[in-house]
Amino acid sequence: MAQTSQAKAQTMRAVALDKFGGPEALKIQNIPIPEIDAQEVLIRVEAAGVGAWDPIEREGRFVDITGIKPTFPYVLGSDGAGRIAAVGKNVNRFKEGDRVYAAALANPKGGFYAQYAAVKADNVSLIPGHLTIEQAAVLPTDAFTALTGLEKVLGLKSGESLMVFGASGGIGHLALQLAKRLGADVFAIASGDDGVQLAKKLGADKAVDGRSDNVLNVAREFAPNGIDAALVTAGGTETDRALTAIRKGGRIAYPHGVMPDPTAPDGVKIEAYNGEGGPALIDRLNKLINSGPFEVHVDRTFRLEDAGKAHQALTEHHLGKIALRIE
Ligand SMILES: NC(=O)c1ccc[n+]([C@@H]2O[C@H](COP(=O)([O-])OP(=O)(O)OC[C@H]3O[C@@H](n4cnc5c(N)ncnc54)[C@H](OP(=O)(O)O)[C@@H]3O)[C@@H](O)[C@H]2O)c1
Repeated sequence: MAQTSQAKAQTMRAVALDKFGGPEALKIQNIPIPEIDAQEVLIRVEAAGVGAWDPIEREGRFVDITGIKPTFPYVLGSDGAGRIAAVGKNVNRFKEGDRVYAAALANPKGGFYAQYAAVKADNVSLIPGHLTIEQAAVLPTDAFTALTGLEKVLGLKSGESLMVFGASGGIGHLALQLAKRLGADVFAIASGDDGVQLAKKLGADKAVDGRSDNVLNVAREFAPNGIDAALVTAGGTETDRALTAIRKGGRIAYPHGVMPDPTAPDGVKIEAYNGEGGPALIDRLNKLINSGPFEVHVDRTFRLEDAGKAHQALTEHHLGKIALRIE
């Protein structure tokens, strides 16, 4: 295995849990740098994404979902970006120093809230040209989930109309832009005036605040015969009311984790799904991103030692994503 002497010799700074709990359980610690196997790369992490699901993992509720027995110290962080520090002996696609981003959910070798992460090379990609390290770090899981929902679950076609509910959030603001690239007419239901402005800026054909009372009127103007499909990233009464604008024979997709589960009107297909990864989907995503201006909106960036504050910020209104700067 081609591990650098620098990586071998040192421990690393990480935000690690000694037990599951609240934000106060997130503590800076010095822990061993993870070792890579033949299929993995070691990433020197420069920034990590803070996922909407991270507090659930922090509280230990992922264990039931993934079935993976946790070991402590436990490092959170499904998404990150940085430079390749070492490559496993069966990995040919990367070399030391490459600028990469990656996703690894509940990685038993530790997440991205750390100076180093050992990740399966299949989940790693060079960063598409213009993205900053923070933008790349927050991108993968939500972008994979957006693209899986649009193409695999909804089978979105050029010329169709699409509702994105939660269009100024992590998945939503990426889904909106990807759907435009796929040729859809996008009806964005965003959060607040700032969310509506962001959705318009990102190319939504129509954008409305999901907490206003004119969503259905605007939806009827947008698509008098009903909207073809919906990607839903937040649940509740406002969601279910908005979904009555989907036409009979239309379809709705939402990632597992959206609570409460959205309700489909009669005659509309609804499916919960998980985002997928892997080289083919990552290539497709990078091509779509590279085919024109694409914004990954990072609302706030916190220092690693302020990971607890970053988790608090997730509970407050924000647009797009939240990042941690590792160094
Ligand atoms: N299964 C999977 O593969 C998978 C992968 C990724 C994510 N997920 C799950 O998918 C869900 C969404 O993830 P995310 O990263 O997109 O989360 P997020 O960034 O919190 O996005 C949700 C968005 O919905 C907005 N919203 C809530 N109620 C609204 C309303 N009535 N009208 C308009 N907008 C509204 C929120 O705005 P405010 O901030 O103002 O509330 C927020 O911007 C989470 O539950 C996450 O855990 C699942």
